[in-house]
Amino acid sequence: MKISWYSPKFGAREKELVNKVLDEAYVNEGPMCKEVEKKISEFLKVKHVILTTSGTAALFLALKADQVIRNLKDYEVIVPDFTCVASANAVRWAGAKEVLVDVNKDDYCINIQDIKRKITPKTKVILITQIIGRCCNMEELNKLAEKHDLIIIEDVAGAFGSKYKNDYLGTIGKAGCFSLQANKIISCGQGGILVTNDDEYANKIRRIRDQGRLNKNEIVYPIEGYNLKLNDILAAVVLGQLENIENRIKNLISQRKQYEKELKDVKEIFLPKTDYENGSVPLWIDPLAENSEKLGKFLVENGISIRKPGWPPVHRNGTYLCEDERFPNSTYISDNSLWVPNGPTTKPEEISYICNKIREFYGYS
Ligand SMILES: Cc1ncc(COP(=O)(O)O)c(C=O)c1O
Repeated sequence: MKISWYSPKFGAREKELVNKVLDEAYVNEGPMCKEVEKKISEFLKVKHVILTTSGTAALFLALKADQVIRNLKDYEVIVPDFTCVASANAVRWAGAKEVLVDVNKDDYCINIQDIKRKITPKTKVILITQIIGRCCNMEELNKLAEKHDLIIIEDVAGAFGSKYKNDYLGTIGKAGCFSLQANKIISCGQGGILVTNDDEYANKIRRIRDQGRLNKNEIVYPIEGYNLKLNDILAAVVLGQLENIENRIKNLISQRKQYEKELKDVKEIFLPKTDYENGSVPLWIDPLAENSEKLGKFLVENGISIRKPGWPPVHRNGTYLCEDERFPNSTYISDNSLWVPNGPTTKPEEISYICNKIREFYGYS
């Protein structure tokens, strides 16, 4: 038995749509990108949807456009220490300074008390990661942002399709930045989606994404920009995946529930609570586990791919290096958790096999 940690799945529909683009030979950003942006805008109920090359690029564009509009210089962005390093890298890419804060031990989301300790007069943005569909405490965050005149940017790289009550994650802050990389709920290999309800902000983002122009009718480029556009070949893959989004959501929920059920009595495993009632969609399976290092090795020996650490805390990466003691919870989570397989190609019997191996490791029958 060989079980991959997470593999994307593409079907006949994606191939058909890609072929259509290739047959028509319009392969840069064109009608397919437009159609995908429209479909996502309807699905997420958000005014502006802007496709880009990656989740990291989406974060960069969200930060850069805000910087240009507010004429920000020498400023700080709050970033959780437990996230993909891309969140902090995007802040550096935009020329700002990241200020790392700790997270909560129970849901791995940003710790609001630690944000309060680290806000300075230079703070302009709170960048939060809605970890695999688990929503941060938005009521408290919104109050804090309002009090200090900050904006909230949601890193929703792994949270497409997740809701908090009536709102899709990514549409609650000033901007939401999704990833279309291979281990996300919908994927085109590499890609990103930026969403916002703010017209001026959306226009600035579009300009910065395309060398400074808003559309092809502009002959001169009024501001400085880059090329961070997606193309119609990749957009065709996204469209095919989107058509199947409801099934993809159902599958991820059912897989997480299967893990919860089959490991219910295993005291050594703690799965952060998924708020199914309010629309959380668990992208990955990310338990804290006693003896997680040894458990990980045992699973690998039994043909099960895992991720360990899922993410190293940001502060352990070379360019962000500082002492573990400053971030006790993110350090604890990274050291004591592991990510086990799920996703569109994982079968229920494979999840049962994994759960049985976990039970065997801890001596349960
Ligand atoms: C929380 C988070 N932020 C940002 C990213 C970066 O996205 P991308 O790989 O599309 O640049 C990822 C990728 O997995 C992520 O998980």
